[in-house]
Amino acid sequence: MPTIVVAVADEALEKWCARLQLEFPDAAIYPRDATRAEVDPAAVAADYALVWRPDASLFAEQPRLKAIFNLGAGIDALAQMPGFPRDVPLIRLEDAGMAQPMASYVLAAALRFAGRLDTYARRQRERRWEPKRPRNPAHVKVGVMGLGAIGRTIAQRLVANDFAVRGYARSPRHVDQVEVFDGSALPAFLDGLDLLVNALPLTAETTGILCRANLQRLADGAHLVNLARGAHLVDDDLLELIGSGKLSGATLDVFREEPLPDMHPFWRNEAIAVTPHVAGVTVLEDSVHQVADKIRLLERNLPVSGVVDWKRGY
Ligand code: GLV
Repeated sequence: MPTIVVAVADEALEKWCARLQLEFPDAAIYPRDATRAEVDPAAVAADYALVWRPDASLFAEQPRLKAIFNLGAGIDALAQMPGFPRDVPLIRLEDAGMAQPMASYVLAAALRFAGRLDTYARRQRERRWEPKRPRNPAHVKVGVMGLGAIGRTIAQRLVANDFAVRGYARSPRHVDQVEVFDGSALPAFLDGLDLLVNALPLTAETTGILCRANLQRLADGAHLVNLARGAHLVDDDLLELIGSGKLSGATLDVFREEPLPDMHPFWRNEAIAVTPHVAGVTVLEDSVHQVADKIRLLERNLPVSGVVDWKRGY
């Protein structure tokens, strides 16, 4: 039976360990404070580590891990960690219950845009009664950047609600009724989009991809939805494009610094909706199942999906 160390934030730690123990009744499972910065020389050397944003000291006290499970979709925090053991397979969550809520979040923003609800919210404050025909979703061009487990689900939900959907992925792939552009065709993908949705992994290549030069390609009055990572977006460029009227607004769930600092101008901008990184929170039950199934496969020396490719960066 494998030995497993679990290092996640306080509130979730006990639940994770208890639920995992049900999957592996005979396994030794050790909770580890993810934030502890001191190396414990007496720590038991585990076979597997399940982690979410742990301190680097965890890896200094775990010399013989067979695999590390990242209990989230984005592995950027680990990729940027000095001393992270890149020779140990790192496996990220794939969907694990996150994709559908994220698709709902995007659909809400898309319907809000199509129905011009942001415009009416502003007019209400001025007591202005100025009806305008809602946009027909079939005429709203939505682009989804990133067509992994999450981006694909978002694109499909938008298609199911009659939006005209484009997708952008590093390598060519097929999603029903979605016009897909590959890595070399970013400008063509962006040109004239009414709504841009970012679901990319954060890598050296995608950092700052939501910048002035790229956002300027969108249709006049376009809206941005970012639910991937704050560092994809150049904050000042967004503010400038909203200020000039090129973009009508943005729905942002992720930020360069979280919690979003008190003084950040996004808080005060009427055209920006701020949510506190809640579009895709980890679903314990689905995640435990996914990780446990993969541990069983690894124990039998069978391949698993979701292993990070360091050349790609995700
Ligand atoms: C959350 O942001 C995740 O990467 O799962």
